[in-house]
Amino acid sequence: MEPLRARQAVAEALARGAGARARKFFLQRDTLHPELKSDSQDLVSEADRSIEAWLRRAIRRHFPGDGIVGEEEAATEGTSGFVWVIDPIDGTMPFLVGQPNWTVSIGLACGGEPVAGVIYAPMLRELYSAVAGGGARLNGRSLAMNPDWTIASTTIGFGATQKALPAEVGAFVEGLYREGGVLFRVGSGALMLAYVAANRLAGYYDPTLHCWDCWAGMVLVREAGGLVSFDGDFTRPGAMWAGNATVHAALRRLSGRD
Ligand code: IPD
Ligand code: CA
Ligand code: CA
Repeated sequence: MEPLRARQAVAEALARGAGARARKFFLQRDTLHPELKSDSQDLVSEADRSIEAWLRRAIRRHFPGDGIVGEEEAATEGTSGFVWVIDPIDGTMPFLVGQPNWTVSIGLACGGEPVAGVIYAPMLRELYSAVAGGGARLNGRSLAMNPDWTIASTTIGFGATQKALPAEVGAFVEGLYREGGVLFRVGSGALMLAYVAANRLAGYYDPTLHCWDCWAGMVLVREAGGLVSFDGDFTRPGAMWAGNATVHAALRRLSGRD
């Protein structure tokens, strides 16, 4: 099999394996001992750590020459040119409080570019998968974004956390509502990007995301016909905008970053 497709197939299997492990933790989440990271809504538990460790072992076993960047451990360099960009649980807060809207996110980079992505939502039984040039799929069904939507057509995902500047949040929300937009938030940036690809949201804006939150989702949105821009990289977080061409441009304008 072609190297990228081989990795996509493994990423799908690993997302399902990680999702099954996460689901077991989720069903006994009262026994977890979450710790605070940077603020009162940024948490980590043994579920996040053990699933990332399991994913890293599995990736090394399949593709020992690939690099890995993930949320819970230091990045490792590879020799193949491929880098896995992984978040074992995206949406740790919803996971810990018993909401079903959390995901396993596995992205792939080649030459620093997003080339494949798998997002699995175990409690929703949804597997999103995309590969550069090969389209985006949800549970095997092809995804194509609506090119005619505006920010007023249906809700807009917004990811601002406690790290966001209140004045910027206020200005964005005010501008959005002034133009007929309405907010949506589920606490998993990966899931909101998957929803953009699946025409469940008109677009998504997050002032600060890490690469592991959005790498897989970037491929999904692009392969479903949308536009994504991310001004972070593997070493630092950045803002993310996603939608069709019209929505992407409007979100960039409303974010005040253009
Ligand atoms: C978080 C989620 C959230 C986004 C945050 C991320 P985590 O990831 O993606 O939607 O707004 O910036 O940190 O911590 O649950 O893996
Ligand atoms: Ca995340
Ligand atoms: Ca995470």
